[in-house]
Amino acid sequence: MGKDVIIACDFGSKQATLEFLDKFTDVKPFVKIGMELYFAEGPDIVREIKARGHKIFLDLKMHDIPNTVKKAMRSIASLGVDMTNVHAGGGIAMMQAAMEGLEGKAILIAVTQLTSTNADTLKNELLIDKSMNETIMQYAINTSKAGLGGVVCSPLESEMIHSHFAKNNIPFITVTPGIRFADSSKDDQSRITTPAKAKEMGSDYIVVGRPITQAEDPVAAYKRCVAEFID
Ligand code: C5P
Repeated sequence: MGKDVIIACDFGSKQATLEFLDKFTDVKPFVKIGMELYFAEGPDIVREIKARGHKIFLDLKMHDIPNTVKKAMRSIASLGVDMTNVHAGGGIAMMQAAMEGLEGKAILIAVTQLTSTNADTLKNELLIDKSMNETIMQYAINTSKAGLGGVVCSPLESEMIHSHFAKNNIPFITVTPGIRFADSSKDDQSRITTPAKAKEMGSDYIVVGRPITQAEDPVAAYKRCVAEFID
């Protein structure tokens, strides 16, 4: 499994996204398209970025009944994305249905618990009595049972997840947001690590948004991430 840096293209329009991508002349970074851009521009934005030669992680975090998810994944498969995701909270049957719909055309990963969910939300709103780590681990195990390739999680959880699956000889990747340079702003992220630390903790892919998109020189910031995480 190739390690890579994925840029979160959290822009509200096609124009802003393409202006940003135009800055990259000698490299074609792996990019993440999320709900904001996809719902604003529709599937054409995926086709256009794909045609420019980028790999795409389509981050729509599906969570619905198995039949609906299977059919939605069939549509996503036809877009030619490289990676996409569902919520593990939808259960094993839903994740299996997603795999069937996708027919192996992209890497499918699952969100365990959103990093915005804290221990208090888990216990008092969702009425889950297990700890955050136990819940995340169980969701990762369900994800693997359903045949998916890995999970989105914080780099701090990626160590625990990798050690569980490595012990059992099961290939399983972790895709980790919450990345900041040692000398940059945390923004609204709380559980953060640097690209170098994420590498040390075993992340397979890091997802980096604002440290690259808001940088004075986004190409230099991207290359700095690659140098810390891969080289
Ligand atoms: O700008 P920043 O680097 O914080 O962007 C991180 C990206 O990863 C955003 O697109 C955000 O929605 C996404 N993400 C996250 N935490 C998760 C799941 C996804 O920050 N648990």
